[in-house]
Amino acid sequence: MMVAALVITTLVSGVLASFLLKAREKDFAYEKTSLESHNTNEELRVLSCAYGVRHARGAISLVSALSGSRGASDPFTPLLMHLVPLPKKRKSELMYHEHDEDGGNANGDDEFGTNEGLEINDSIDSFAKDSKILIQQVKLVTQMLNMHEEICNATEDLRVSIVFLPFHKHQRIDGKTTNDGELFRQMNRNVLRHGPCSIGIFVDRNITGFQQPHGFDSVQHVATLFFGGPDDREALALCRWLANNTLIHLTVIQFVSEESKAETPVGNAMTRDNNEVFMEVLGRNQTEQETDRSFLEEFYNRFVTTGQVGFIEKLVSNGPHTLTILREIGEMYSLFVVGKSTGDCPMTVRMKDWEECPELGTVGDFLASSLDVNASVLVVQRQRHSHDSFIDD
Ligand SMILES: *[C@@H]1O[C@H](CO)[C@@H](O)[C@H](O)[C@H]1NC(C)=O
Ligand SMILES: *[C@@H]1O[C@H](CO)[C@@H](O)[C@H](O)[C@H]1NC(C)=O
Ligand SMILES: *[C@@H]1O[C@H](CO)[C@@H](O)[C@H](O)[C@H]1NC(C)=O
Ligand SMILES: *[C@@H]1O[C@H](CO)[C@@H](O)[C@H](O)[C@H]1NC(C)=O
Ligand SMILES: *[C@@H]1O[C@H](CO)[C@@H](O)[C@H](O)[C@H]1NC(C)=O
Ligand SMILES: *[C@@H]1O[C@H](CO)[C@@H](O)[C@H](O)[C@H]1NC(C)=O
Repeated sequence: MMVAALVITTLVSGVLASFLLKAREKDFAYEKTSLESHNTNEELRVLSCAYGVRHARGAISLVSALSGSRGASDPFTPLLMHLVPLPKKRKSELMYHEHDEDGGNANGDDEFGTNEGLEINDSIDSFAKDSKILIQQVKLVTQMLNMHEEICNATEDLRVSIVFLPFHKHQRIDGKTTNDGELFRQMNRNVLRHGPCSIGIFVDRNITGFQQPHGFDSVQHVATLFFGGPDDREALALCRWLANNTLIHLTVIQFVSEESKAETPVGNAMTRDNNEVFMEVLGRNQTEQETDRSFLEEFYNRFVTTGQVGFIEKLVSNGPHTLTILREIGEMYSLFVVGKSTGDCPMTVRMKDWEECPELGTVGDFLASSLDVNASVLVVQRQRHSHDSFIDD
């Protein structure tokens, strides 16, 4: 009987253990994906997508900014996915870099993006030489139609917290903007719609905007704009990885509605008595407001009070007023990091007249489309979906 009891106990605990492990894995997949809840001591895995070497160089600049001057104790794992669109009716393949050579390119080299691949390799190699940061490479060869799904799946397999996609327009040498096409735009929109992790759309204006800093004479001035809401918090959360970089001057610009200006500013939060009234004025969800506030306060105490990061508060009355301020500050920074959605925030309400690329959100769309802005823009959307979201498509 004792033997039987032992066997049963072993079986039960085995089943229990594997059950718990499964539950743990599930938690991991769903919880780890927002940067807001990601501790900066934990490994940060980011995936940058690039169709060609131009995008790869932009991605490397971002990686360089995010990984700059970190302690060896803060692991950072950048990955780069070379996207190679196939013409229609071709079997899709996800090829990891190691498998690249022995996989055999029986179908001809250029179809698999080898020429761009060589140049991307060169860029990654020379970055590794300068910075000692190795960017892992993954190659995705697939039809444009499936690409978003493959990327979404890969973000889970590769356990990345954020994926960066290149904006579908790029800046030419003469500074003008060229549209790469609706297919690329649609791909981005599909990833935004289905992505299981946070997503950044990078509007790379490398000629007039953000460039990879190489030394103290090329320090980059970066601003993150905070109106409120989950996407803005995620953008601010991402900026925690920029704060340590001595070649990046980061400034947080908080936009505060004039209607709520009596509210105690972040940084000397002594009295919080009257907050509820102002939250009603703003018409936004109270808990959301509080989350915004405490996240901003935490950031302030950790980075602003130490002098690592600048902080500016802008009082605005409405959308057009916000636009005026965006134009004013447009020339002061080489990169804006912004959240995609600012919710139903009254400070951006009447900016909608300018809508050109709604997938970037109101503020991102303005910064990316306006001729008055020369800076690069990184639009961040916080993780919204679990992977199951493909099913209801
Ligand atoms: C910007 O990108 C273009 C196109 O890839 C490249 O030729 C140029 O060198 C880049 N400029 C800077 C300043 O990085
Ligand atoms: C890229 O570089 C790796 C070595 O770093 C090499 O094995 C691979 O063949 C290169 N890829 C291409 C497309 O040249
Ligand atoms: C992505 O993953 C889902 C679920 O794991 C699977 O059903 C689907 O076929 C995958 N899509 C691609 C394009 O690999
Ligand atoms: C920044 O640097 C400090 C000390 O050098 C380190 O403790 C911290 O983990 C670093 N990273 C971030 C994101 O603050
Ligand atoms: C906040 O909004 C969410 C959904 O928009 C809702 O479920 C929740 O009950 C709201 N909370 C409060 C305190 O109003
Ligand atoms: C953008 O940059 C170009 C070239 O450096 C410059 O001529 C132009 O005045 C800038 N635009 C604005 C709005 O400052």
